[in-house]
Amino acid sequence: MNLSLTRRRLLQSGLLAAGSGSFIGQVLAHSQQADVQTIFSHGIASGEPQADSVLLWTRVSVAQDNDVVEWELAADRQFQNVLQRGTRHADKHHDHCIKVTVSGLRAGQVYYYRFKCQGVYSEPGRTRTLPNGDIDQLSFAIASCSNFPFGYFNAYEVIAADPDVQFVLHLGDYIYEYGHKGYGGTTGKAINRNHEPAHEILSLADYRQRHAQYKSDMASRLMHAAHPLIPTWDDHESTNNPYMQGAQNHQAHEGDWSERREASLKAYYEWMPIREPEQGLNRKQLWRHFQFGNLASLLTLETRHTGRSIQIDYKDHLSKITTKEDRDLFLKQVLGNPERTMLSENMQNFYNQSLQNNSSQWHLLGNQIPMARTHVPDISQFLKNKSQEGYDPVAEEHAQFRRLGELDLPIYLDTWDGYPGARQAFYEQNQKLGIEDLLVLTGDSHSFWTNQLFDDNGKAMGVEIGTAGITSPGDFESYGPKTASAMDKLVADHNPEIVWTDCQHRGFVKLSLNKQKARADFISVTDILTEKYQVERIKRAEIIKKGNSLTYT
Ligand SMILES: [Fe+2]
Repeated sequence: MNLSLTRRRLLQSGLLAAGSGSFIGQVLAHSQQADVQTIFSHGIASGEPQADSVLLWTRVSVAQDNDVVEWELAADRQFQNVLQRGTRHADKHHDHCIKVTVSGLRAGQVYYYRFKCQGVYSEPGRTRTLPNGDIDQLSFAIASCSNFPFGYFNAYEVIAADPDVQFVLHLGDYIYEYGHKGYGGTTGKAINRNHEPAHEILSLADYRQRHAQYKSDMASRLMHAAHPLIPTWDDHESTNNPYMQGAQNHQAHEGDWSERREASLKAYYEWMPIREPEQGLNRKQLWRHFQFGNLASLLTLETRHTGRSIQIDYKDHLSKITTKEDRDLFLKQVLGNPERTMLSENMQNFYNQSLQNNSSQWHLLGNQIPMARTHVPDISQFLKNKSQEGYDPVAEEHAQFRRLGELDLPIYLDTWDGYPGARQAFYEQNQKLGIEDLLVLTGDSHSFWTNQLFDDNGKAMGVEIGTAGITSPGDFESYGPKTASAMDKLVADHNPEIVWTDCQHRGFVKLSLNKQKARADFISVTDILTEKYQVERIKRAEIIKKGNSLTYT
């Protein structure tokens, strides 16, 4: 693939212009109109499809309180065959966001929808219901880590324009919490994509303003208009590295943590096309099950607010680890402490109920954080490269990294690697369900991955496909391209579960399934600092089922 797209070119292109056959061209042309930009400047979205229903979303951007918003759902994109319509009020208690669950729909169908307020129609949206019965084709775009100041959401635009994509699975870090001085701020200043508000978001008003900024992005609007979203959050929708009782990036002077978290989740439920919690559940309990006929099930996990114990910090332990015995004890007794959990009991019960006797060909898991064992390799060879590559072995962070390599310890303790006991328990839970063919889809890391998964006894549990960030940079990138590539290779060579990894590209994974195989295309955009870019497929991985387990071909 070598396709060049820019928003300007989309508009100029005869193929994509409104009325000439392209839905996304129709969306773009309509959304550029001044009154649409005024009333519906945050676009529209659909999400959480089921076989007979889907949720539609919009926001009235210039709201007069209690504005009446009309919605309609049609079989065609010219809205000549309107199937359902209704009205809603936009009110300030929901930040003038509107959510409509449209039910009574047919399975596996494409529908079109739009809203009307103050005499103005929103751009049209295209959505689809989950298929039923015997199906042999399914295709997702898998995205994560869309940090506004780090660059343009060009990858969203590619997803929007891809006619094969049926659903978008966003695995979290849909927004980031930082202010201008935080992560991404320097790049944001350089390209004039600064976060709003300028400070780290703490209050309900702050979180709403941040969501509004992200939803105003034109590439984001196109993606949402083109495909239904299946989202799950990671940490930054609230703040960096939360756990049940707190978060790494929440300090006492920033107020009460539970109030801040509640504000972040309220804004999330307002601004994302997701259902409200069912009776008896609260906002934190965002876990879902989607069934795609007999071909695939998709379970999305909640690993941040409902069951996670506090992360272990190497700073509290590393100086005490001097021998191999110390290291083994640290892995077993500190990280692996059976009291330390990742999933809540409610989440596990939901998982069991959803997947009991589930004979889908593919068992997909929407998982925020990397699952494969990822230990630090020996990086002593880079000690010579200080001057040319920006790798500074004397810097505290790099010195710690080198030490972790000497001890063969995990890179990250916020991932499943930081909770090996909980990971093993999760694998055993799957084994009890007869599931040893997990196709785990993972965000968070800002790198691409093809991994194999094994439990503590060496039993194969499936494979893991990791997606890079839409814009967030890979962790080794700051070392320079040569060192970053070498690091990727060292990490893959060192870790039996890692087949391949790449930290240097931004983009998404396109996953296509049929009964015989799963195909993961790792799609990269060549630039995020401007809106001019090329699209490249940097790798294709194919996965087949062998007996009860999965393997790469
Ligand atoms: Fe991220």
